[in-house]
Amino acid sequence: MERLPGFRDFYPEPLPDGEAWSANVRERIFQSWRQVASLYAFQPYDGPPLEPLALYTAKSGQEIVGQLYNFEDKGERAVALRPEITPTVARMVAARERHYKKPIKWYSIPQLFRYERQQKGRLREHFQFNADIFGEADPAADAELIAMLIDLLRDFDLTAKDFVIRLSSRNAWQDFFNQNGGDESKAYDFYQAVDKLERTAPEESEKKFQALGFTLEQVRNFIAAAEPTEELQAVLDNLAARGMSDFVKIDYNVIRGLAYYTGIVYEAFDRHGKFRAIAGGGRYDQLVSLVSGGKKNIPAAGFAMGDVVLVELLKERGLMPDVSPWIDVYALIEDESKRLATLKLVQLLRDDQMEVDYSMVPMKPEKQFKRAIEVNAEYTVKLENEGNVLLKNLKTKQEEKIPIDKIRDRMLEAILGDDSE
Ligand code: HAM
Repeated sequence: MERLPGFRDFYPEPLPDGEAWSANVRERIFQSWRQVASLYAFQPYDGPPLEPLALYTAKSGQEIVGQLYNFEDKGERAVALRPEITPTVARMVAARERHYKKPIKWYSIPQLFRYERQQKGRLREHFQFNADIFGEADPAADAELIAMLIDLLRDFDLTAKDFVIRLSSRNAWQDFFNQNGGDESKAYDFYQAVDKLERTAPEESEKKFQALGFTLEQVRNFIAAAEPTEELQAVLDNLAARGMSDFVKIDYNVIRGLAYYTGIVYEAFDRHGKFRAIAGGGRYDQLVSLVSGGKKNIPAAGFAMGDVVLVELLKERGLMPDVSPWIDVYALIEDESKRLATLKLVQLLRDDQMEVDYSMVPMKPEKQFKRAIEVNAEYTVKLENEGNVLLKNLKTKQEEKIPIDKIRDRMLEAILGDDSE
C-alpha cells in the first residue's frame, strides 16, 4: 500500500535514502520552535484537527476553501480537516478570553491539511509553528512577532544573507485603492490580483486591474515607491532598536492570500527567491468578532512558519541540524547467567536519566559490540565477577574496572563531565 500523494512518512535516522523525511530532524525543529517561543514568553495551546466546515468558508477566503479536505461525518455534520489554526485560536480566545490576562501570547505546532496542487514546497499535509498575540492593537505587537520570526530562523543559523522579511500593509493598499476610486465591494478581488502579481503574466494582471478600474503601471509605481506607512515605520524603528534592520524591507508586493487580514502583513523569503514563502502572517483585528458572531471584539496579530520550505532551505544551505542518534551506554551480556543482574544495572542507569540499550535476547559477543558501535554508544558496560563492572569508553578505548556500588557515581561523572572528549 502506498501512502497518499502529498503526505509524508517520517523515518528515524539514519535515513534509508535522500528522499526520506527525518523524524529526528522534525523533533529538532519542534524543539527549536518551542524554545524560541518560550524566550518570547508565549504559552502553548492546541485545538481539534477536525472542525466544522463553516469555520473556514466564511473567514479564510476562496483560496484556502478551494483546498479543503472536507466531508460529511456520520452525524451528517459538514466538517473539514484544519487547513490552518488561526480560525480555531480565534474561536478559543473568543470563548475563554476573560480567563486570561491581556495581551494573550500563544503558540502551537499543528499538523495541517490542504488539498493543493503538489509542487516544490507545497504538500497536502505540513506542520506549522503558529504564534499569535490577542488584545494588543499597537504595532509593537506586530514588531514583537516579527522579531520572534527572525529569531526562529536565526536559531537554525540562517542569517540576513539567507532570508528577508517582506513587510507590507493592507491599510496602505486600502488607502491606495480608495484614493484611486476603487469600488469597496471589489477590494478583496483587488488584493487577490496583487497577491498573484509576481506569479502571473503581466498581460493577465493588466486585464484584472483594468476590470477593477486600475492600470498595472499604477500598481507597479505604488509598489516601487515602497513608502512606509506610520505603523510600518513604527515596526521598522522597533526592530532597528533590536539590531534587526537587516532582516526586513518594505515590499508592497506582499498582501497575503487569506481574507481576514486587516493591517500589517508580511512574509519571510529566502534572499535568492528560489523557494516559496517560509512564513507569513499579519494583523487580523476582525476575526475574533467574526467567529463569535460579533460578541467579542479583540485585536489580533500572528504568523505561521511551515516545516517544508524550512527544511528545503536548510538542506540547500548545508545547515541541516546534526541529528545523528547516539546513546550513553550499551550493556554487554556475554555470560547469560548475568542477564538478570545486568537488567538491574540497566534500570539503575536509566533511573539516572542515562540512555541505555542492550540485546534483549542472547547474542554473540562480537555482534553485541558491533551493535554498540552502530547505535553510537559512548560507553559499554559489562558485569564481571566479584561485583565489578567493566566500563569502556568507545572513543578513547580506555577501560576501567569499577565496583558495582560505585558505577552510578562514576557514570554520572563521566557523562556529565563528558570525559570522552
Ligand atoms: P499561510 O501563509 O497560509 O498562513 O501559511 C504559513 C506558512 O505555512 C507558509 O509560508 C508555508 O511555509 C507553510 N505552508 C502553507 N501551506 C503549505 C503547504 N501546502 N505545504 C507546505 N507548507 C505550507 C497561514 O496559515 C496563517 N494562518 C498564518 C497566521 C497565523 N496568520 C496569523 N496567524
